[in-house]
Amino acid sequence: MDYHIALVKGDGIGPEIVDNAVRVLEAVGRLCGHTFRFQSYLAGGCAIDQCGKPLPQETIDGCLASDSVLLGEVGGPKWDGLSGDQRPEKALLQLRSVLGLYTNLRPARIYSALKDACPLKRDTAEKGFDLMMVRELTGGIYFGQRGRREGKYGPEAYDTESYSVNEIKRIAKVAFETAKKRRKKLTSIDKANVLETSRLWRSVIHEMAVDYPDVDCSDMLVDNAAMQLIRDPAQFDVVVTTNMFGDILSDEASQITGSIGLLPSASLGETKRGMYEPIHGSAPDIAGTGKANPIATILSAAMMLRYSFDLERESHLIEEAVDAVLAAGWRTADLAGPGQNTLTGSQMTDKIIQEIENRF
Ligand code: IPM
Ligand code: MG
Repeated sequence: MDYHIALVKGDGIGPEIVDNAVRVLEAVGRLCGHTFRFQSYLAGGCAIDQCGKPLPQETIDGCLASDSVLLGEVGGPKWDGLSGDQRPEKALLQLRSVLGLYTNLRPARIYSALKDACPLKRDTAEKGFDLMMVRELTGGIYFGQRGRREGKYGPEAYDTESYSVNEIKRIAKVAFETAKKRRKKLTSIDKANVLETSRLWRSVIHEMAVDYPDVDCSDMLVDNAAMQLIRDPAQFDVVVTTNMFGDILSDEASQITGSIGLLPSASLGETKRGMYEPIHGSAPDIAGTGKANPIATILSAAMMLRYSFDLERESHLIEEAVDAVLAAGWRTADLAGPGQNTLTGSQMTDKIIQEIENRF
């Protein structure tokens, strides 16, 4: 079958990690008889430089016309001085919004080969963990009213968090359904001791829990969750939370896997078209050095095969190849211990492709 994939490489390490993931997809396509057609579009800082705005209409149209979107990263110090609406990050938020991608799946697990890279206590790392963070992606404080005004103490700025019952219901449904297919445990994370949005969030979750009697559902306050992730990450199976809490906790979850360079994500809506991107940033400091770990983007491409194209076997093939390459001791700079040999991102990709070919 033919699949049309929009590539939004973005800034910093974006182009190199996306190019590596494309090579993996091409290898899988070649072996399994699929044709992946790629079309690149500008977004972020590079779009500001070339078109004067972070998200050109052509990119929106191209993504809407594609079967799925693979995204690198946007942003960098060069554009940090721009106002909120002109920043590269605006492109990402707008894309999520126009594509209707309200669900963000961020799996985090520890690879047995990387237990030494896990900064947690040895016995916690040994126990391992495997969680799926379900982050609400098109609502909350990211999209609420914001601005500047004169306040009691002089000039001030404000951002507002709001959630409707329907927005909470639709993300909760994804979370319950995800938990049903996994270990049937759902932790809903909020700040209901302070925030009204969290109290509404909690009551909607409780209402929906009645329809999922086989899922063990509980609430946790976000400050406690930040602590529990470090103390005992194995207690989590599926976690559901708001846009901002999910942003913060998923970075924490990534760090305890050993490196932020490993974590993929899938952004999904009501249709099969999704947007897939690593959860890390554009790392302008290492862009062009070959150091960037492509694994998070390669695993994001694997998620695309699973969620957008229903190619479970092909998705699994990529994931198994990544596991095997790590188990064989190959490391990019972010994963290497002292004195360990390191591969460039493109050499790591070669190893993964070789492993895919061997396994096929
Ligand atoms: C992420 C990123 C984005 C977010 C930024 C770049 C806008 O941190 O995908 O986690 O906050 O959602
Ligand atoms: Mg983030």
